[in-house]
Amino acid sequence: MQLHTNQEHSTTAPVLITGGTGTLGRHLVPRLLEAGCRVRVLSRTSREPMVGVEFVTGDLATGEGIEAAVERVETIVHAAGSGKGDDEKAHNLVRAAAVANVRHLVYISVVGADRTPITSGVDRAMFGYVGAKRTAELIIANSGLPYTTLRATQFHDLVLMMAQGMAKLSVIPVPAGFNIQPVDAAEVAARLVQLALGEPAGLVPEMGGPEVHPLAELIRGYLRATGRRRLIVPVRMPGGAARAFRDGANLVPEHTVGRRTWDDFLAEHIAVRSYA
Ligand SMILES: NC(=O)c1ccc[n+]([C@@H]2O[C@H](COP(=O)([O-])OP(=O)(O)OC[C@H]3O[C@@H](n4cnc5c(N)ncnc54)[C@H](OP(=O)(O)O)[C@@H]3O)[C@@H](O)[C@H]2O)c1
Repeated sequence: MQLHTNQEHSTTAPVLITGGTGTLGRHLVPRLLEAGCRVRVLSRTSREPMVGVEFVTGDLATGEGIEAAVERVETIVHAAGSGKGDDEKAHNLVRAAAVANVRHLVYISVVGADRTPITSGVDRAMFGYVGAKRTAELIIANSGLPYTTLRATQFHDLVLMMAQGMAKLSVIPVPAGFNIQPVDAAEVAARLVQLALGEPAGLVPEMGGPEVHPLAELIRGYLRATGRRRLIVPVRMPGGAARAFRDGANLVPEHTVGRRTWDDFLAEHIAVRSYA
C-alpha cells in the first residue's frame, strides 16, 4: 500500500501508536496516514523514519523513553502487547499520558478479558495474558484520561502462528472444547482508526470474526492447506479460566463484525508464502 499524507486534514499533533511495528500496528500506520494524521510509533528498537512516520525508541515495560513519546500527542492508540506484563505497560503509559494531557487513549483488549477468572496458579500460568489485559483495561478506565477500549477476538495471524508451531509436532495436543472466532487484524485496525478519529467512547461493543470454529478444525484447515497429515489429540485443560474458554468466554457470536474468514486468510497467506 502506498503511504501518503493528506495535508488538508493533517493536524499538528501526532497520533502516537504503541505497537505500531506489530501485526495490528502495521495495519494501523497506513490507515492513520490515509486519514491525514501525522504518526509517531513507539518501538523498543530504533528505526529509520518513513514518509509521515516518526519513530521514538522506548520501552513500556521499563518506562524508558515514554515521556518523549507522548510529548505534544493528543491521541494514543495503545496496541503494544506481549504475553506478559500488559498491565505494567498500561500503567507506565497512562502515567506519562496524564502528565502530557493526552485527550484520547484508545486501547485494544481481548474478548473474554472480563469473563476469564484468574484465581489459581494454573490459570495464571496459562491465561495470565488475559488477566493482564483485564487489569490494563481497568487501569485505563480508572486513569481519568478520556479513553476508548475495543475488545477483539483472536487475530487470524495468531491462529496461524499457533498452527505453524503445532504442525512441528507429529501428534498435536489441542485444548478440548475450545472454540475460536478469528478476526482479521486489518479489519480490527480499520475499526480502531475510526474510534481514534472519533470522541472518547469508553468501552465500545466487542468485535469478532465472521465464524466460530473448534480450534482443532482451524488447525486441520492449516494442515490441509499445507499438505500435512498429523494426529490431533484433544486435551482437557485444568482450571477455571480453561473452563470459561470451554464455555465460550472468548467468543462474541452476537458481534460478528469482521468479514474475512479463516479460509480466506489461509488461502491468501499460503498462496503468498508459496511464491516467497
Ligand atoms: N493477536 C491477537 O490475536 C489479539 C487479539 C485481541 C487483542 N490483541 C491485542 O492487540 C495488540 C497487538 O497485538 P499484535 O498481535 O499486533 O502484537 P504483536 O504482533 O506481537 O506486536 C507487539 C507489538 O508490541 C510492541 N511491544 C511489545 N512489548 C513492548 C514494550 N515493552 N514496549 C513497547 N512496545 C512493546 C512491539 O514493538 P517493538 O517490538 O517494535 O518494540 C510490537 O509492535 C496487543 O495489545 C494484543 O493484546 C491481540
